[in-house]
Amino acid sequence: MVSPRPAVQALPAYRPGRNPADLAREIGVDRAVKLASNEVAFPPLPAVVQAVAAAAGETNRYPDNGAVVLTAALAQHYGVDPEQIATGGGAVTLCQELAQAYTEPGTSIAFAWRSFEMYPLLARVAGARAIQVPLVPGRDGGPADTHDLDGLLAAIDDTTRLVFVCNPNNPTGTAVRRAELERFLDAVPATTLVVLDEAYREFVTDPDVPDGIELMRGRPNVAVLRTFSKAWGLAGLRVGYLVAEDPAVAEAVRKTHVPFSVSMLAQVAAVAALTCEDEVRRRCAAVAAERSRLTAALRERGLDVADSQANFVWLPVGEQAAELAAALEARAVITRPFAGEGVRVTVGAPDEDDVFLAALDAVRDGAPPR
Ligand SMILES: Cc1ncc(COP(=O)(O)O)c(C=O)c1O
Repeated sequence: MVSPRPAVQALPAYRPGRNPADLAREIGVDRAVKLASNEVAFPPLPAVVQAVAAAAGETNRYPDNGAVVLTAALAQHYGVDPEQIATGGGAVTLCQELAQAYTEPGTSIAFAWRSFEMYPLLARVAGARAIQVPLVPGRDGGPADTHDLDGLLAAIDDTTRLVFVCNPNNPTGTAVRRAELERFLDAVPATTLVVLDEAYREFVTDPDVPDGIELMRGRPNVAVLRTFSKAWGLAGLRVGYLVAEDPAVAEAVRKTHVPFSVSMLAQVAAVAALTCEDEVRRRCAAVAAERSRLTAALRERGLDVADSQANFVWLPVGEQAAELAAALEARAVITRPFAGEGVRVTVGAPDEDDVFLAALDAVRDGAPPR
């Protein structure tokens, strides 16, 4: 038998997420809600639907592997040079391409933990050491939910090629602020690339949480990851991008690009989405307002929920995480548990969040599922 590499054998097998329609059928209810994947509840933007429909008749052709039109649109949007940009089949693919471009056995990747679940997997596949720096309490006596940038800095050594700072952090929703992030960036060695993973940037409302693309200027060892999957509503099409201060970083990522991985439909959809910035801002403001309502409702129920700057909230229920998520699922609400740590709940439409809150109350009252 041909065996995969040991690092690959040790990876967890892919587990498909729960589908709400299947769950509803299984438990015999009209409707289940999915608050597990940090998508937005809004339908795709009308301009996106039109652009995809118009391009559908050309899908016998390969996409532009350089995504020239999208790259130019992004460059104009952010006031950077196209050479500073690399596009990818979702930000997750760009994470893999970064690891391929910058790491090898004997090197390391540093990041906070708990954070985006891809980071340790990237390191394993690359044969690089994962340096995981535990989150710390963001407020007195609170749960560990916030980046420890001093700890992260102290953990970086001369093998460290990449540091991921997920801001806001998935799954806890907390964000690091300008002064501490600037101090951190000033101190990181020039031989380590800091990747500010800003998949949720558009949902940030705290003016003290810096925009990575502004912060990156003048810092050649900083790059920013963004995605069209969340605020821009294109999760199903797979497109993200990296913006780097040093064009050599974007070039290295373009060299490891999985050929044609940003489809033609994803490219036209992203270009169309960028023309709808005002509508996207309105949608993000609605998500932020709903996030406040949900946070307040959870706090009223005695849960120690941090201020989230993303489109999800974190329930720090520790050992009860798996049990709580299973009980919510039995009541038609799909969330994302992290066993032994907490449950992440995506901010949905207000009616979806009401279904979640009612299910949570039922679980806590010990009411049997229908
Ligand atoms: C922190 C973070 N980075 C990157 C991604 C990847 O997003 P995508 O590959 O859909 O662009 C996600 C998605 O959940 C995320 O949470």
